[in-house]
Amino acid sequence: MYNNSLIELDRAHLIHPVASYRGHEQQGVRVLSSAKGATVTDASGHQLVDGFAGLWCVNAGYGHESIVEAAARQMRELPYATAYFGLGSEPAIRLASELADRAPGDLKHIYFTLGGSDAVDSTIRFIRYYWIAKGQPQRDQFISIEQGYHGSSTVGAGLTALPNFHAGFGIPFDWQHKIPSPYPYRNPVGEDAKSIIEASLAALRAKVESIGPDRVAAFYAEPIQGSGGVIVPPKGWIKAMRDLCRELDILFVADEVITGFGRTGPLFACTDDGIVPDFMTTAKGLTSGYVPMGAVFMADHVYR
Ligand SMILES: Cc1ncc(COP(=O)(O)O)c(C=O)c1O
Repeated sequence: MYNNSLIELDRAHLIHPVASYRGHEQQGVRVLSSAKGATVTDASGHQLVDGFAGLWCVNAGYGHESIVEAAARQMRELPYATAYFGLGSEPAIRLASELADRAPGDLKHIYFTLGGSDAVDSTIRFIRYYWIAKGQPQRDQFISIEQGYHGSSTVGAGLTALPNFHAGFGIPFDWQHKIPSPYPYRNPVGEDAKSIIEASLAALRAKVESIGPDRVAAFYAEPIQGSGGVIVPPKGWIKAMRDLCRELDILFVADEVITGFGRTGPLFACTDDGIVPDFMTTAKGLTSGYVPMGAVFMADHVYR
């Protein structure tokens, strides 16, 4: 009875992203009511292994008392503190410092966001501002990769290259460009790592040439393309792309929203190829999925 009324309330009022409205109304919601470790339990008592870890985010698993306690303590002490207008709070300052200590190279400046999409959007604003401050306002074109995912906000979803996120939404914008994915399966150049890397380098060069060499602001890449199909580029690919961006004077953004915080082995996946990006976006896993939150890491040479 309780469960049925929740299903009706859901049908009537709750909008579900990445779901067909009519299909969802017909099927009805599956209510999740509790979780422990890697298992979630629904309102009918069915236990499910949460292979997705929330939405790629509950990397510490459910039910860690130490995390619950820390959140409850903070709620009592100071539940909200803005960083606007020069204000700050101890947890935000300490977390920024801990993250900077663990980040590769000179990624020493941290901007906290509401999640991954907000982090990606923020980089676009930072980057536009950076080029304007450097006296190159014409650098307003952005390049990302087919099958890439960079979030679901209007601007970030235009860097995303999945058709469902574009059709009917009026995106991508005309300043958002794509090059082919380094997808090894059925790649026209074959599966060989060297050929795939060379093809990506040639594609980026050609794209920059066609847009205008002094027009491109930044290039976005996921170290592993997640939502596009968990596509692992060949070893050395990300380093080669990073080096080319440096040569072409284009900022390199590593979108580590689902690869950061240890999920591929190292704390940040881009360090596997030994690179230091100009910006790094992170989110899921930052608070072990318990609080939705993200962060932009900005390199010191950009900040200055
Ligand atoms: C690479 C990447 N960037 C950005 C996002 C957006 O993050 P969020 O869902 O927290 O807005 C995601 C989400 O999965 C992602 O995989």
